[in-house]
Amino acid sequence: MQVFYDKNSFSNYIQSQKDQQKTIGFAPTMGALHAGHISLYEEARRDNDIVVSSIFVNPTQFNNPEDLEKYPRTVEDDIKKLEDSKLVDAVYIPRVEDIYPNGMDRKHYDFGGIENEMEGSARPGHFDGVGTVVEELFVQVNPDNAYFGEKDFQQLKIIEKLVEGLDLKIKIHGVKIHREKNGLAMSSRNMRLSEIEKETSALIFQTLKRVNEWFRVISVPEIKTRVEEIFDSENMDLEYFLIAEEGTLKEVDFFSADDDFRAFIVVNVGNVRLIDNLHLD
Ligand code: PAF
Repeated sequence: MQVFYDKNSFSNYIQSQKDQQKTIGFAPTMGALHAGHISLYEEARRDNDIVVSSIFVNPTQFNNPEDLEKYPRTVEDDIKKLEDSKLVDAVYIPRVEDIYPNGMDRKHYDFGGIENEMEGSARPGHFDGVGTVVEELFVQVNPDNAYFGEKDFQQLKIIEKLVEGLDLKIKIHGVKIHREKNGLAMSSRNMRLSEIEKETSALIFQTLKRVNEWFRVISVPEIKTRVEEIFDSENMDLEYFLIAEEGTLKEVDFFSADDDFRAFIVVNVGNVRLIDNLHLD
């Protein structure tokens, strides 16, 4: 596996792969890698000649400076995990000036309104920051296929809109959420949880599974009340829970006959913000 720490050497590598007409599969990350990331590379390996990873903690997608500061940075470990996986041909670890040569500004995007739902309203500017870094990485990596985890389902939809809006020839693949044994969705932020917090956080997925049992059996408002009661009774800080239509990500208050629905949840455990979601069927 080759490791690139600057744009020039990485661009030369990409150009040589393109010259050989190799297809490129890409999954960007912010590091602190776990089995969920590795599953992105497993999929990428199946579809492409070359698999590329990137590690870059993107400042413009953090609306809370403390969150940016606390974000785990474990580059040496990450490189080892990628190497050991034997799935990745190259990892790009750019410097800030490789991504933001003209200063750290966010671009502003219109993603058709989905940027204003859920995480968009909870974290103003977040999706502009994600769009800015992913657009730049797509230009530099020039992939045929790109892979994103469904844990950040709204982000996945935003990336699909980004590619459509810019008319890029990149196929976006959503990859199923990877979970710990107790159901907790794998996330780089889990590193900041104590063992006890990891155990209590199992309630998040347990609750989502109960919501799925209640789907089309009881009303949406009643489901919301029950979820709030569950977290209240455990003294856990539920930031939001809602059910949205999968295409628009707009919150619904009843289940129409033909649409697809997904439940979304955010819970703060200590000072760690955990997000999860489940397709309802
Ligand atoms: O999901 C992430 O890790 C980040 O949002 C991404 C897509 C790498 C952009 O910084």
